[in-house]
Amino acid sequence: MEIIKNISSLETYAVRQPVLRAGKPIESCQFDGDDLPTTKHFGIYNDEKLVGVVSVFNKINGIFNSPSQFQIRGMAILSEYQKKGFGEKLLHHCEAYIKSQNGALIWFNARESAVSFYEKSNYTKVGALFSIPEIGPHYLMKKEIDPQ
Ligand SMILES: CC(C)(COP(=O)(O)OP(=O)(O)OC[C@H]1O[C@@H](n2cnc3c(N)ncnc32)[C@H](O)[C@@H]1OP(=O)(O)O)[C@@H](O)C(=O)NCCC(=O)NCCS
Repeated sequence: MEIIKNISSLETYAVRQPVLRAGKPIESCQFDGDDLPTTKHFGIYNDEKLVGVVSVFNKINGIFNSPSQFQIRGMAILSEYQKKGFGEKLLHHCEAYIKSQNGALIWFNARESAVSFYEKSNYTKVGALFSIPEIGPHYLMKKEIDPQ
């Protein structure tokens, strides 16, 4: 059985490192704002093993007008656990948390290879493909949240 828990920024590295920063130094796993009081990190456990992580930042993107925006970052599932539904459960957990904070808009920079995953949860691309140095091609994606 899987469960989702609040975890620390350091605990995310066990998944960020192999999935998102393979072959890069451990310091590359640290994101700006990781330890702000408004930042939350969630881990999904399968039989007590941490198999996926995601982080939610209370961060405004000036492209959007909404006053209450949250950014999702560092969504990663260990390769041997991908395509089993863990990612979707983590994403929906983030959405429930953001709704509880009265968030109106969720945005993130999605790897091109993950765009279809997010589209299944009704996120839409905004603008053109762009490159994040050393990481690769990305799309800005967003979803508006219905008020509770
Ligand atoms: C992208 C990622 C987070 C998705 O998590 P996951 O646990 O593998 O996804 P799920 O099993 O919950 O998939 C949910 C649905 O999306 C689909 N899906 C998952 N990853 C996909 C992908 N990369 N491309 C297309 N569809 C995908 C699944 O097939 C499933 O569809 P279904 O409901 O029709 O069966 C995970 O594969 C991952 O960590 N990838 C490498 C790192 C990465 O790209 N992170 C995102 C950075 S923006």
